[in-house]
Order: sequence, then C-alpha cells, then structure tokens
Amino acid sequence: MTTECLYEGKAKRIYTTDQEGIFRVAYKDDATAFNGEKMEVLEGKGRLNNEISSLLFTMLHEKGVDNHFVERVSETEQLVRQVSIVPIEVVVRNIAAGSLVKRYGIERGTEMDPPLVEWYFKDDALGDPLMTDDHIRVMDLATREELAKMKVMALQVNAVLKPFFKEAKVDLIDFKLEFGKTAAGDILLADEISPDTCRLWDEESGESLDKDLFRFNQGNLQEGYEQLLQRLGGTNA
Ligand code: C5P
Repeated sequence: MTTECLYEGKAKRIYTTDQEGIFRVAYKDDATAFNGEKMEVLEGKGRLNNEISSLLFTMLHEKGVDNHFVERVSETEQLVRQVSIVPIEVVVRNIAAGSLVKRYGIERGTEMDPPLVEWYFKDDALGDPLMTDDHIRVMDLATREELAKMKVMALQVNAVLKPFFKEAKVDLIDFKLEFGKTAAGDILLADEISPDTCRLWDEESGESLDKDLFRFNQGNLQEGYEQLLQRLGGTNA
C-alpha cells in the first residue's frame, strides 16, 4: 500500500492507497481540546476510536445512513471512500451541555425535543465559529439543497444512534458530524463518530464516557472509552 500522507489533523492522518477512490485513515493517540490548547498523547486512544467509529459507521450503513466507511484494516486504521470534506461541522444536541450552556445560559441537562441542529465553520484559525444558513450562503460553503440534506442526515444519525446507545445504558447528549462530497457530487456522512466527537453520559450515574474525561480532567479517558466499546458489544482486541 502506498503511504502518501494527504492530510494530518489533530486526531487522524489520511493516506492515499493504490485503490482508486479509497483513502486510508490512521487514528492517532493524540488527544487535544479547546482548539489545541490542551494536548496529550493517550496510548490506545487511536485503537479505541478506530474500533468505535468502525462499529458505528457499520451499524449506520445497515440502518440506511450512507457513509464513507469501507472497512477496518488494522487496530488503528480504516479504509474510507474518497470525499472532499464540506467545511461545516454539524452539531446535533439532545440535551444542553458544553458550548450551548456557555453561550446562551441554557441550563445544563435541559432536553431539546426536537433536537437542536447547529452549523460551525470548520476553521481552526478562527476557532470554528457558529454560523447561520445565511453565513453558509454568503461564503458559498454549501448549496441550500446540500444543507437541507445534511440536516436530514444528521437527524437520521441521531434517530439511529440515540436508541443504540440507550440499549447500552448510555445517553447520547450531543455529537458533531462532518460530511463529504463524492466525485459525483453526492453528500456522504464522513470523518468519524467516536467518544471524541460525542457527549455520552452513563444513564444512571451521569458520568462521561467521552472526551470530557480529558477536557475537564474527569477521569481516565482510555478506561471510559474501553467501557463504552464493551457496552456497545465491541471487541477488546
Ligand atoms: O463544545 P460543544 O458543546 O459545542 O460540542 C458539541 C459536541 O460536538 C460535543 O459532543 C463535542 O465533542 C463535539 N465537537 C467536536 N469537534 C469540535 C467541536 C465539537 O467533535 N470541533
């Protein structure tokens, strides 16, 4: 397999492969928070996120949510379909937490029904600012149709993931998705879905099984992610 690294992000590297239209994603052990201000290497995080993300993308595919995932090829790597990432981070919230509480003073734990969908401009240098449909139009980041499709798909992902996590006695509080465009111009769910990109609370204790463990020094991240993986029926490889 050729190993030209096309892109290195905070948590993953993307490589070309010798298969047309297929990229290899390698999950890193690096943990970052607050737009890179807090940074640590947490051994095993890459394996856990690769495994959890693979499991969730496979399950979403089975439930009819098209996504870029092809197959997991090693502990820390997966093959995905080549897409160009739309520079919009889509956040879906079922329960108020994080920046929603900070920005608007909504009480933490307030239920959102129907769920709240937010757009953020994917730009580290600008700190990923919150944006409206009109910002997206002005900046020409996506068409109205693409935006509508992303919203429908984000809510579908929520409708599949919420009961899936609930079976594992975990509440899906909120999560971030990214979408990509195929060469044919179709919108596909992409990037990753993992405890790095979701807030997941134990339904009884309310304890975090997600990156808040690292962000706010709430406990051992790898133990939390491992527990989540096992509850979801994943392996312990
Ligand atoms: O920080 P905030 O409350 O806006 O985060 C909402 C959700 O989106 C959380 O689950 C968080 O982990 C995720 N997120 C992310 N990447 C970002 C911003 C938020 O995965 N750049």
